[in-house]
Amino acid sequence: MFFPFVISFLLVSLERTLAVSTNRNIHFQGWKGAGCPPPDLALNGTVRATAADRHRSDYAEVKEVKFSGEIGPLGEKRLCKIKCIGGEWVGPLCQNHDDGGHYHPLFRSCRLDNLPAHLVVTYHNVSIQPGRVSFPHGATVLLRCREIGVYKLLGDSALQCQNGAWSTRIPACIPTTMLTNFTEDAPPTVLVKIPSGSASVEPSGDLAVFPGTILHLECLFSRRLGNPEWTWTSTFRQYLTGWAIATEEREWKYRLSIYYSKPQDSGVYTCATPRGLTNSITVNVEAVHCEPIDVNSDPYLTARVEGSRLGHVAIFQCPIGFKLNGTSNLTCQASGLWSSPIPQCLPIICPSLELDDPHLSLVEHNTSYGGRAVFRCSWGYKLTGQPGIECEVDGQWSGPVPTCQAVQCPPPMSPLNGRLVEDGTRYHKVGSAVQFACNERHQLVGENTVVCTESGQWSHPPPFCKARCPYPGDPAHGRIAPVKFSYEPGDHLKVTCSAGYVVRLEARPQCRGDGTWSEEVPECRSYQDV
Ligand SMILES: *[C@@H]1O[C@H](CO)[C@@H](O)[C@H](O)[C@H]1NC(C)=O
Ligand SMILES: *[C@@H]1O[C@H](CO)[C@@H](O)[C@H](O)[C@H]1NC(C)=O
Ligand SMILES: *[C@@H]1O[C@H](CO)[C@@H](O)[C@H](O)[C@H]1NC(C)=O
Ligand SMILES: *[C@@H]1O[C@H](CO)[C@@H](O)[C@H](O)[C@H]1NC(C)=O
Ligand SMILES: *[C@@H]1O[C@H](CO)[C@@H](O)[C@H](O)[C@H]1NC(C)=O
Ligand SMILES: *[C@@H]1O[C@H](CO)[C@@H](O)[C@H](O)[C@H]1NC(C)=O
Repeated sequence: MFFPFVISFLLVSLERTLAVSTNRNIHFQGWKGAGCPPPDLALNGTVRATAADRHRSDYAEVKEVKFSGEIGPLGEKRLCKIKCIGGEWVGPLCQNHDDGGHYHPLFRSCRLDNLPAHLVVTYHNVSIQPGRVSFPHGATVLLRCREIGVYKLLGDSALQCQNGAWSTRIPACIPTTMLTNFTEDAPPTVLVKIPSGSASVEPSGDLAVFPGTILHLECLFSRRLGNPEWTWTSTFRQYLTGWAIATEEREWKYRLSIYYSKPQDSGVYTCATPRGLTNSITVNVEAVHCEPIDVNSDPYLTARVEGSRLGHVAIFQCPIGFKLNGTSNLTCQASGLWSSPIPQCLPIICPSLELDDPHLSLVEHNTSYGGRAVFRCSWGYKLTGQPGIECEVDGQWSGPVPTCQAVQCPPPMSPLNGRLVEDGTRYHKVGSAVQFACNERHQLVGENTVVCTESGQWSHPPPFCKARCPYPGDPAHGRIAPVKFSYEPGDHLKVTCSAGYVVRLEARPQCRGDGTWSEEVPECRSYQDV
């Protein structure tokens, strides 16, 4: 009998893959007819390490695989499953938290590729660096221009992902008068000035203002082209508008002031030029407080905290030798949350050095900031480059890793009237030895073997080959004197004959400069023959 069964495990690699999944179907190669093969996950052409790597069990009888998926750029955890149908893996289906744990197909997610510059993306109250992230079906992202009032957002600020497509076109940021040299055909710039109080620019591009704040909205327009006009949606009160008073501002700043803002001042404030070009700021006055920041949470972190009211800013710093992990400037937002998580101070650590050179070793390897890496070469090798480098404030080493080069001795010189024995090699490493030999009728003076030392010098100077005459042997019935193995040039031989024998009186062989005798050793001749 065949029992289909379910195995459950966590698949870390699959989680990652799912996190960037844009496909409804994660498709597995399968054999028709049989059970399913080990799930060989091919997600949009990319094959990933899968369950098969960890559980080499027989998948032919497995009907369903459950795993924990991480969905979307924030890694929302959901239980997902794939099912073996007709020899192929089908799925995944993932559980919804909202509807009692039912499984649903993963709709296609959406991406924000090639986003226009100046757009800031926020998802679930967290600012996202768009890039290669994708957003799950149903996700809503908020888009705003980086500097509100300086760019005008054209289009909707909220986009929803609907099975692979965004609900509306991605908005654009249009430059305003301040950036276009006050041309008449650009919408006006609106600058926000806060002489007292606090406010925060929200993910939607709205301005959230704490009650009691004084707010100047400055519409930038060239006065000689006419007067712009301020309008507002709130019916709470009238606002003072008019050209700025100061001489340097009166020709181009048309101002609206909100004194001691109240919730009833919330609304849209629009500046329109005589040609009808507009730019707006949406103001929401709310008495929101954020969680006070615990400055003692990290012993290294120093914080300058304005307070914890809406619009208040906290600026964080780390001491030398540490780097900030996270965002340095946090703003208290209308959501009651700080714009980013509180950062941490992480010690600066340089990458651990991996040495490829088998002759190079580390004497010291301190990867802390200010720490040193000190190198040494093995015997017979010398260091090229810096013998020590330091871990710098950017978390990088101050220089490259040095290399080791074999120490070499210069080619040995062949002595005059002699030669090198076994000198096949062109390179002479430390420890290698060279032998010398002299030609015939020459004697070696000095060391006949020299060794290459660590200093790159030979252990001894090369020997000389001095001319020497060989021992010529005694004549018959006589002896030569002196008796030596060899004779130096200039040496004379004296022949002494045995009793009854004589030698020519004038015969005295001399050793010549080329190692030959001037004459043969004279014979000892009998008295009777002389
Ligand atoms: C794979 O991804 C690319 C780009 O993200 C997309 O255009 C394509 O449709 C995807 N392929 C499938 C089979 O979904
Ligand atoms: C942002 O935070 C606010 C307040 O906590 C919350 O009401 C809102 O739903 C959050 N928005 C998203 C998209 O999570
Ligand atoms: C800006 O406009 C003024 C007046 O129209 C002109 O004199 C000036 O040259 C312009 N500057 C630039 C950078 O276009
Ligand atoms: C840095 O911060 C991020 C986000 O808060 C966190 O995921 C990461 O683990 C931190 N890095 C370290 C080394 O603590
Ligand atoms: C953080 O605030 C400081 C002080 O207001 C400012 O000089 C700095 O530019 C800000 N940094 C960022 C990244 O906004
Ligand atoms: C590493 O270097 C740092 C900075 O010079 C020093 O404070 C630390 O004590 C060193 N660590 C070790 C284990 O030597």
